[in-house]
Amino acid sequence: SEDGKMNVAIDGPAGAGKSTVARLVAEELGYIYVDTGAMYRAVSLHMIRKDISPEDMTQVLQEAQDLVIDLQPDRGGQKVFCNGEDVTSEIRSREVTGIVSRYAQIEGLRTQLVDTQRQMALRKGVVMDGRDIGTTVLPDAEVKIFMTASVQERALRRFKELEPSDGLTLEQLERDIATRDKLDENREVSPLRCAEDAIVLDTTKMNIHEVVDKIVSYCTMVRGES
Ligand code: DC
Repeated sequence: SEDGKMNVAIDGPAGAGKSTVARLVAEELGYIYVDTGAMYRAVSLHMIRKDISPEDMTQVLQEAQDLVIDLQPDRGGQKVFCNGEDVTSEIRSREVTGIVSRYAQIEGLRTQLVDTQRQMALRKGVVMDGRDIGTTVLPDAEVKIFMTASVQERALRRFKELEPSDGLTLEQLERDIATRDKLDENREVSPLRCAEDAIVLDTTKMNIHEVVDKIVSYCTMVRGES
């Protein structure tokens, strides 16, 4: 764009730390953070409430048409609204987490959300995190990062964020993550995969600060070249 702003795509599997990193990178660059997973989660929550299963594709699509999902920057993070209702915390429930990949496989739903995501990035200056940003949503993004970490490490990170009252074991988390990886990698419509021109960052042995620094330096370098 005229003011030298770029778009930054951050993709990778569940629990690789994308959202924390993307939020911090956006803060450092003065860009807007867009969490696309939150959009799939908000739609899923709505469908759960309406008792519409991911198998009822026609109904899902019909219901999704008039759904207004809105992301609003909030103190370095982001608030998620569904038809005006703040669903920021509810979309993180285990119920939503367990079923979101199945709604995310519905092609028509993806088309609709991808369209909204592209609109959000039109004026550049966004850091967008998801699964298909570098490959499908923003194939022209100036910076593409593919963040990974071992399943064990990702489960451990999730585990540390949980309350003891959640009653989940590390083994359960590992299984949940491995299952979600499989669904996300093997779906027919824009599966999770690394863009050819993405930088791969294995964060298994890195802390958040190191990852953010790496990405920000890379962004600064790319901006200098353009
Ligand atoms: O990043 P997350 O865990 O909040 O994502 C929730 C689900 O949404 C995840 O299982 C895969 C799906 N998703 C997707 O298919 N495409 C995206 N761009 C973002 C998320």
